Amino acid sequence: MNSLKGKVVIITGAASERGMGRATALKMASEGANVIVSDKLKNDDVGPVQDVVDQILSEGGSAFGLGLDVTNDIDIKNLVDQVLTKYGRIDVLFNNAGVPAGVGDFLNLDERDWRLAFDVHVFGMVKLIKAVLPHMIEQGGGVIVNNASTAGLAGLAQFSGYGASKFAVVGLTKHLAAEYGSHSIRINCVCPGMIDTAMSDIEVSGFMKDHNVDRETAIKELSMLVPLGKYGDPAEVADAVVFLASDKSKYITGIALPVAGGMSAGL
Ligand code: NAI
Repeated sequence: MNSLKGKVVIITGAASERGMGRATALKMASEGANVIVSDKLKNDDVGPVQDVVDQILSEGGSAFGLGLDVTNDIDIKNLVDQVLTKYGRIDVLFNNAGVPAGVGDFLNLDERDWRLAFDVHVFGMVKLIKAVLPHMIEQGGGVIVNNASTAGLAGLAQFSGYGASKFAVVGLTKHLAAEYGSHSIRINCVCPGMIDTAMSDIEVSGFMKDHNVDRETAIKELSMLVPLGKYGDPAEVADAVVFLASDKSKYITGIALPVAGGMSAGL
């Protein structure tokens, strides 16, 4: 339970109640990391972030929380300044924040949909990586894990804007891994498939409406798209992120790891 002992880890989008960011924050803390729990605040309410921090502290872990909109340069500078003041280093960045933008009939997506998907998924990551890399270089190494998607590995109807932004995340991951390996910085991404979170609820609701079925039937039918026959649990993605963040993967960089119950098997 000590694969991240003493590591200083930043996680974005970490406060959503059933999200992968939260699951990863809890798991990393249980592996001994000092976790910086961040998320975009709604109405300046820091409560959801603090809930995650409180849970970590109550389980004997180490964490602090703050609001961070990944599209906001001032928030990012504030985060990095605070982390460096408190810990003097940044070992791991998990770029997890995401939005269900750019989803739907391509002809109905407007420029705002496309921009939101790219602003959060691509430029948000670019900004955060630019902010932490100089410190990782100076301290002689670090690890970055990005949350992409199986929609960033293969084409999928109704996902053009979202999927194109996730292809960009996979590309960014590989190019930066090639560029910064010489600084002992490893950069990988996970590509979750259908994971049971608030975001995937939108897909379930859409299926219920389109096929006029109840939630249970929708989940059953959608699960048939997965070779392992079920939605993934956020904690199962967290396990993969912990692996990529820890020394257990110390010779692995530049990969896009599907965590998808076999959905990528045919690729
Ligand atoms: P979620 O909706 O539970 O979590 C997303 C988090 O991102 C939320 O906490 C939200 O507040 C935060 N966020 C949104 N915009 C932000 C911004 N501008 N700045 C900072 N934080 C922001 O969803 P989930 O499913 O846990 O998503 C996590 C990541 O996994 C996302 O990048 C998503 O695209 C990706 N993903 C999700 C899949 C799924 O089936 N749920 C499948 C593949 C990838």
